[in-house]
Amino acid sequence: MKILITGGAGFVGSHLVDRYLRDGSEVVAVDNFITGARENLAAAFKEPRFHFIEADVTGAWDDVKEALRNQDRPPDALLHFASPASPVDYANHPLETLSVNSLGTERCCRLALEWGARLLFASTSECYGDPKEHPQREEYWGNVNPNGPRSCYDEAKRYGEALVFAYVRKYDLDARVIRIFNTYGPRMRRNDGRVVPNFIAQALEGKPLTVYGEGKQTRSFCYVDDLVDGIVRCVASDETRGQVVNLGNPDEHTIEEFAEIVSRIVGRPLKREHRPMPVDDPGRRCPDISRAKTVLDWYPRVTLEEGLRRTVSAFSLPTI
Ligand SMILES: NC(=O)c1ccc[n+]([C@@H]2O[C@H](COP(=O)([O-])OP(=O)(O)OC[C@H]3O[C@@H](n4cnc5c(N)ncnc54)[C@H](O)[C@@H]3O)[C@@H](O)[C@H]2O)c1
Repeated sequence: MKILITGGAGFVGSHLVDRYLRDGSEVVAVDNFITGARENLAAAFKEPRFHFIEADVTGAWDDVKEALRNQDRPPDALLHFASPASPVDYANHPLETLSVNSLGTERCCRLALEWGARLLFASTSECYGDPKEHPQREEYWGNVNPNGPRSCYDEAKRYGEALVFAYVRKYDLDARVIRIFNTYGPRMRRNDGRVVPNFIAQALEGKPLTVYGEGKQTRSFCYVDDLVDGIVRCVASDETRGQVVNLGNPDEHTIEEFAEIVSRIVGRPLKREHRPMPVDDPGRRCPDISRAKTVLDWYPRVTLEEGLRRTVSAFSLPTI
């Protein structure tokens, strides 16, 4: 298999690169480093089956096409993961976020058609907004503020989904959409603003944990290796063609419970610093993964405690 991954230098993208290389595939990663880092691909760069193209996926793809022209065949699958993903990142880059999920997604659809490749679009549980249904099934349409501070991300992903489905209907594109729920693991940036790196970095630096509101809001955290396994299964599956699939861990915890687990792992009590809830922050988040279980025979295997231990130990290592 030959796989092209946009956003390949990011947190999820780089783990996907490593997984496909381990499985024997040829991998092309495209990234402009707006939120990603070359270090995430340190292992991949040593592998002759790995090719990296520094380019913006919203651009003309001339660099990408030129680089691919020298290769013997086009990719069999295109995985579109390029997009700022943390609230801090998409607040800093709102226009880039809108653009990469709209224009960038359209470019990916066209290229997948041209190459006869299958497409997977990385969408998000943010499409459900502040959900009024719980847990969230793929059929739920969501409750999204169309112009609030998170809208540049939520609405961009919803537009991206609409675009993919327009290509499926009009051109019979072999495409599928995954809605990823909160995922964590090594290679998250300490300062990316998401709760897992926030808590771990604060715990390791001896600082109080920042808790928004009273910490009663829930999240369901999926370890990155589990997510990557679900993605690989989804790409390989014919049954997911023209479908949306939730990928996440239904093991739901309040932020306060989560803070307690982090405190247990680092072996000491941790103070909390409470801040006001961010605007439009969802109160509850938990995936219904029945479809992924049935169609992909997939469910998360790494417990929160085990995944957090692995992440804390990765965060404790000196950065390379
Ligand atoms: N991590 C999660 O919990 C989560 C949850 C839901 C959805 N997702 C989706 O998964 C994907 C990856 O998320 P992540 O957590 O790895 O984020 P990330 O910020 O670590 O990775 C995104 C990568 O895309 C690259 N990128 C962004 N815009 C680009 C552009 N125009 N051209 C080329 N490269 C570009 C960035 O430089 C970065 O390397 C995103 O599409 C995100 O919406 C992630």
